[in-house]
Amino acid sequence: MRHLLPIDRIISEFDTGLRTLLAKPHSQRVHPDAGVAEAELSDAEKKHACALMRVNHTGEVCAQALYSGQALTAQDAATSKTMQQAAREETEHLAWCETRIHQLGGHTSVLNPLFYAGSFAIGAVAGALGDKWSLGFLEETEKQVGAHLASHLDQLPEVDEKSRKIIKQMQTDEAKHANDARQLGAANLPSPVKFCMKQMSKLMTASTYHF
Ligand SMILES: [Fe+2]
Ligand SMILES: [Fe+2]
Repeated sequence: MRHLLPIDRIISEFDTGLRTLLAKPHSQRVHPDAGVAEAELSDAEKKHACALMRVNHTGEVCAQALYSGQALTAQDAATSKTMQQAAREETEHLAWCETRIHQLGGHTSVLNPLFYAGSFAIGAVAGALGDKWSLGFLEETEKQVGAHLASHLDQLPEVDEKSRKIIKQMQTDEAKHANDARQLGAANLPSPVKFCMKQMSKLMTASTYHF
């Protein structure tokens, strides 16, 4: 693989950012809920399911921004490539969540540009610290997203099988991402860093549920 010059990388990651925020994401895989019939949901259930899917959508925006930032500053070409691949796979999650949000009659979060910028900066710093820390950051992010998705399965209306299918497939994918990072030599992050990441995630969840 050709080694990208820094300016190429910056342009490439800037392009990823614009596409994440502005373009309609596409999924190469068939959407997990394709062929599942829409359930009868009350207005309150619809609103709640939509808000949860909006939180998940912003989580995917953050994941893409993190990996994009990490790809920008990763020292090792193989790590940079892994980060770019992970970011591309998150695009499918974005597409699934966005479609579901619209089916439920809602909108994606207006706060997405803010969370994209913050997550990109965090990713760039993690990447600059070195690949084992960057991979550790990726693994911890994926683990926290997995736990978060599990809590959403508990909260979603029981009959909303379409949203459930999407979340279950995302759980499987995120577990694979975490495993890939571990295989590549991820370091175990210090507890205070994990704690800060959880607090950030709580802030994101609380705000994007409503906005
Ligand atoms: Fe994802
Ligand atoms: Fe992931």
